Parts: sequence; structure tokens; C-alpha cells
Amino acid sequence: MPQKFTYMANRGGFSGRIGFILAAAGSAVGLGNIWRFPYLAGTNGGAGFLLIYLICILLLCFPVMVGEIAIGRKAGTDAYGSYQKLGGGKWGYLGLFGILAGFFILSFYNVVAGWAFGYFLEISFGDLLTHQNLGQFFGEYVNNIGPLFLFSLAFMGLTAFIVSQGIAKGIEAANKIMMPGLYIILIGLIIYSLTLPNAMAGVEFYLVPDLNEITPRTIFYALTQAFFSLSLGMGALITYGSYVGKNQNIVSSAAVISIADTSVAFLSGLMVFPLVFSLGAEPGQGPKLIFVILTEAFQNMGPIMGRIVGGSFFLLICFAALTSTISLLEVPAAYLVDQKKLPRKPVVWGISALIFIFGLPSLFSQGIVPFLNKLPVHNSPDFLSFVSDMCDISLTVGACFMCFFIRNRWKIGNFNDELALGNPSFFGSSIQTYINFAISWVCPVLLSILSILVIVDKFFGLEHLF
Ligand code: PHE
Repeated sequence: MPQKFTYMANRGGFSGRIGFILAAAGSAVGLGNIWRFPYLAGTNGGAGFLLIYLICILLLCFPVMVGEIAIGRKAGTDAYGSYQKLGGGKWGYLGLFGILAGFFILSFYNVVAGWAFGYFLEISFGDLLTHQNLGQFFGEYVNNIGPLFLFSLAFMGLTAFIVSQGIAKGIEAANKIMMPGLYIILIGLIIYSLTLPNAMAGVEFYLVPDLNEITPRTIFYALTQAFFSLSLGMGALITYGSYVGKNQNIVSSAAVISIADTSVAFLSGLMVFPLVFSLGAEPGQGPKLIFVILTEAFQNMGPIMGRIVGGSFFLLICFAALTSTISLLEVPAAYLVDQKKLPRKPVVWGISALIFIFGLPSLFSQGIVPFLNKLPVHNSPDFLSFVSDMCDISLTVGACFMCFFIRNRWKIGNFNDELALGNPSFFGSSIQTYINFAISWVCPVLLSILSILVIVDKFFGLEHLF
């Protein structure tokens, strides 16, 4: 019997390499790529941000991703159980820390997914495209709590439904349909936006770096965004890795996942900035960027085309978000199923309800409840941004500790043995040298320094220091 079947006997598992890669890429590709990446690039210098982002992926994120998948596959259980099994002592807490981060990420992520879902409905079937002032519309829209409550409830319900179906029948099947659809819509929109007048100014802003624009902030945002976008630092890939067969090549899978995710982020920028510049708009508008700018572009396409293209675009965002919310929910679900031996379905529905409730302050934080909109916290005045900032910190710190875990506890030799399964030419290869050096030195050193700086920045603002 092939190893993967014996291995996955009780917990279920991905049907094979493609299933795993699609699901992990689906986890990675999400609101982070299509919503957050363009607006962060827009507020942080465009091409300079892109450059630092790519360096982070290569230097830090790719090795961390390999590390997480290896830990998960070796231990064959949830994030807490994996650290506990391989590390003993108090290492399990590192897994719990990640599970908690996943819980909070999903709480605000689901709110933004609800916005996107609402835009899909409003553009496709409502009269959103007839509004004169789309910036103002967005401001009012995010405070129109009644419908948004229902949209995010629906989104959470859909996520829970898919996750409750298990790995192969739920998670994998959903990703196999949604991921290809996403690429097709994205490429169509890029072709459209590149043909608009003044599109090239947007391309230049996005692709020609101005080194003077790169500040410590650029580096922190690029770093935390890279970890967020690749779903690293909180155990999602440990959990998905636990469903991977021993005959699969972790290193090459991680490369494909990283490339898939980075290409969607890159392509989203290539879609958004030509549009921004062709409309003569400001790239640094923050979270409302795609909601306002893209909708204006759809408006310019005329009532019928606008509905079709705009509707497909927001549908794409919903697809992307759903494949990520699925993975976020799977992290705590796997923990309760594996560790507490609870049945999957009630667990999934139960935590979804809890996460939804924890998301309510984020839902109410866009102005309707003034207190939640004006927190006395540096740089993240509203509750949603505050939770998102705290999660960013926990991803960087989580990834940093993961490196220390492999380096000092699990040991590089055991890590390499795991990577060599399904990859006979791993030992002695230059990729081994690179990954080993990155996990032993580059990542722990840089991530330790950056974790501290990111924490100081988020709480106090580093501009006082530099
Ligand atoms: N990577 C997802 C995105 O870019 C978000 C995410 C973070 C998903 C962490 C799972 C774990 O939208």
C-alpha cells in the first residue's frame, strides 16, 4: 500500500501533489494579494515596496515555508501537536500561539471578505455603478452594518460548510475549481487596464524603484505583508503539511506555492496601478484603494460591461478570500479534532460561530461605533487595523521561533531527512545549502531583529528613532 494511504488513515488527506499545491496556494492567495498588497505598495513607494517584498520572499519566506510544511508532515498532526510531538517541553505553546493568531486573523478577514461579497452583489445586481462619489459611497457602505453583518455571516457559513466536509472532498475540491478561475479573471483585467490611457505611468510607478522612497517602514510593511500573504508564521502550512504524503517533494511544492502567490500579488499590482493612473487618482489611499478605484474603472466601462467585469472581479476576490478563510479555519479545527478528539463537524461550526463573534468589533470599527474607530494606539486607530497589526506581529515572531525550533530543538539533520523524502537528490544539492543556511542563520538573525523593530514600530512608531 502506498505510504500516503497508511499515513493518512484516520485524519484524511490531500489526494496528491496537485491537490496539496492548489490548496496551499489557495490559502496563500487571498485578500492579502488582491486587496492588501496593492494598497500597501501604493502607500509605501510602489516599486521600492515591490523590490523589498520580493527580497523578503526569497530570503526569508521560502525557507520558512519549507520549514513549516516539513514540521507538519513529519509530525502528521495539527500545529500544537506538531511542535509538541517533535519538540516536547513547552514547544506546543508555539503552536497554540499560531492557532490563536489564525483565530484572530479570520475574525477580521471575514469582515473584509464580507465587504467584497457585498460589492460583488451591489455591482452585479444593484445600482452601485451609478453613484457619483464612490469614495463617499465606500465610507457609508462599510458602516451600513445590517447587510454587512449578513454578508460576513454568509461568508463564514460557507467557509464552515467547506471545512466541515473534510480535506479531500471539501477543501481540495473547492480549490480545484476556484484557483484556475481566479487566474483567468485576473489576466483579463490586466489586459484591459494596460490598454487605458496613461496606463504606462502606473506601470512605471509600480516597476521602476526609487531607492529614496525606501524607508524602515517600507521594509516592515513588505516583511509582514510577505508573511501574511504566504500564510506563514501561524501554523496553516504545518496543518496542511500534515495532510501531505511522504512521497511528495516538499521543496519543489513550496517553490510552486511561493511563485503562485507572488505572481498573483504582482499581477494584482499590475492590474491596479495602470487603472489608478489612468483615472488620475492617488495610489496611496489605503484600504479603500481597490474598492474605490476599481469601481470607478468599472463605472467607466459602461453599465453592461461594468457590471460584467466588475462583478467578475469582486467574485474573484471572494474566491481568493474563501480559499484562505478555509485554511484559517482548518488550523483551530485540526487542533480540536486531533488533540481533543472532538468530531469535525460540530467543532468546525462551533469555532466559526466564536470567530464570527470576535469579528464583530472589527465590523463595527469603521465609524459607526466611534470608540472602536479611534483607539489610542499608534498607527492603527480602528479596531480592524489594530487586530490586523497585532496579527502581523505574531506572524513575524511565530516564523522567527519556528526557525529556532528547527535549528535548536528539532535539529537541521532531522529537518533534512524529512526534506529528502520524496526528493532523492536533496542531499548535497545547492538548494539544501541555501535552505540550511537560511533556517540556521539568515532567518533567525534577521527575523529576531525585525520582530523587535516591528513591535516597537507598531506600538510607538519608529519615526521617532530614525
Ligand atoms: N495568505 C492569506 C492572504 O494573502 C491570508 C492568510 C494568512 C491565510 C495566514 C492563512 C493564514 O490573504
